[in-house]
Amino acid sequence: MELPFAESYKIKMVEPIRKSTRQEREKWIKEANYNLFGLKSDQVFIDLLTDSGTGAMSDRQWSEIMLGDESYAGASSYFKMKDAIREVLGFEYFLPTHQGRAAENVLFSVLIKEGDIIPGNSHFDTTKGHIEFRKATAVDCTIDEAFDTTLSHPFKGNVDPIKLENILRSSGDKIPFIIVTVTCNSSGGQPVSVENLKMVRHLADKYGKMVVFDSARFSENAYFIKLREKGYQDKTIREIVREMFDCADVMTMSAKKDAIVNMGGFIAMRTKELHSKASVYNIMFEGYITYGGMSGRDMNALAQGLYEGTEYDYLETRIRQVEYLGMRLMDFGIPLQQPIGGHAVFIDAKRFLPHLPKEEFQAQTLAVELYVEAGVRGVEIGALLADRDPVTRENRYPALELMRLAIPRRVYTNNHMDVVAVALKNIYDRRDTIRKGLKILTEAPIMRHFTATFDLA
Ligand code: F0G
Repeated sequence: MELPFAESYKIKMVEPIRKSTRQEREKWIKEANYNLFGLKSDQVFIDLLTDSGTGAMSDRQWSEIMLGDESYAGASSYFKMKDAIREVLGFEYFLPTHQGRAAENVLFSVLIKEGDIIPGNSHFDTTKGHIEFRKATAVDCTIDEAFDTTLSHPFKGNVDPIKLENILRSSGDKIPFIIVTVTCNSSGGQPVSVENLKMVRHLADKYGKMVVFDSARFSENAYFIKLREKGYQDKTIREIVREMFDCADVMTMSAKKDAIVNMGGFIAMRTKELHSKASVYNIMFEGYITYGGMSGRDMNALAQGLYEGTEYDYLETRIRQVEYLGMRLMDFGIPLQQPIGGHAVFIDAKRFLPHLPKEEFQAQTLAVELYVEAGVRGVEIGALLADRDPVTRENRYPALELMRLAIPRRVYTNNHMDVVAVALKNIYDRRDTIRKGLKILTEAPIMRHFTATFDLA
C-alpha cells in the first residue's frame, strides 16, 4: 500500500484558540459593523483573513532571532539577509523595508511620476494604491482566462502578450516599467509560467523598459512551475526561482508570505545606481540602509525563511493543504476559482449568491455569513476592495467577486480545513434563504475595505 501524505514538520509549540456560539458571533459582527477587520482576533476561531505575517516560524528561525545584531549601521543581520538574497534570488543589491507596501512606496518614489502607466497582471491593492496615489494608472494585462473561474488553466496569472504589447506600443513613453506579480494574488493566487516571464522580458527589452516582480509568493509560483510547466519537473525550486528572477531588473518583496516571517520586506535590484536613488527614500521613510524598518533579529529570521521557503518538502506540505480545502469544497459543489491557488481558496461569490445584486457586495455578505456560521474569518476580494474610480468616484465592479480563504503557513491542520469546508457547505445548502446583502455606511477615500462600515441592505 502506498503511504499517505503527511506534513514535513512536527509541532513544538501551540497557541489555544477559542470556539464561540452563533449568538456571540452575531453580536460581535454587528458591533464590528459587518467588517471582518473590525473583529478582535479572540472572537475568531479559524482565521483565514490572510496568509501575510500569520505563519509559524521554525525552531531555526527562532534561533536566528536570538542571534540578531541590533547595531544601527552595518549589522551582521543585514549581511545575513544580503547573502540569502544573493544566494536564493540572485540580486546583488537590496534595501530592507518594514513590509511589502513600504518597498513599493520607496521604489515607486524613484520610478513613477504623475501621468505614468504601469502595465501588469492584476496589481495587488497596495501596489495599485501606490500607483494611483502618484496620479499614475495601473493597466491590467492579465490573460482573459483568469476571469472565468470555471476554466482550468495552469497559469492563470500570465500576462497577455497582445494586451501588453498594445499598451507598450500606444503609450510606451509613459511606461517606466512593467510589474509582474508572482503568484498573482488578485486573480486567485495563480502562477505565472517561466515562458510567460520570458515573454515579458522580451517585450520589455524590445521597448526599453524595466521589469519589476512583486514577489510576495515567488516560491509558491516556482512550485507550480515545477509541477505544471514542461521541462521543469527535474529542476529544484531554487533553480526555478533563479530562472524566474533572471527575467526581472528589480523585485519588491513582502517577506510576510514566502519568507515566513511575521513582519518584513525588501527591494532587491541589480544596479548600484538604482540602489543609491532608492536609498534616499528608504532612509526618509523606513530607516538607515542597513536596517530600513526592520530589527536585526527579524532580518535574521527573514534570511533563514528565504532558505526554508524554497525547500520542496515545505512547499509541498503548504500547497497540498490549500488544495485539500479546495477539493473538499469542490466535492460539495461550491463554486471557486480553478485551479486552486497557492496560498488561498477563492470562492466565486457571484455564482454562490447569484440572486443578490452586485451593489449589495456578494463576497462581503458571504464572508459575514461564514463568520457567523463557524467563526471562520475570510476576506472580500471584490467590489469593496476594488475601491471607487479615482476620477469618476463610481464603484468599480471587477470581473471577479471573490471571497478569499487564505491559509497561514504551518499553522492549522486539515481538521481545521474540514470545519471550514462543512461550514461553507451548510451556507451553500441554505443560500436561497440569504435574501439581503450589505450596504456601505461609511468608507475611506482609498483602501476602504479595512475600515468601511456596513449595515444590512
Ligand atoms: N504584493 C502582494 C502580491 C501582496 O499580496 C501584498 C500583501 C503586498 C504586495 C503588500 O505587502 O502587506 O507586506 O505590505 N498582501 C496581503 C494579503 C496583505 O492579505 O494578501 P505588505
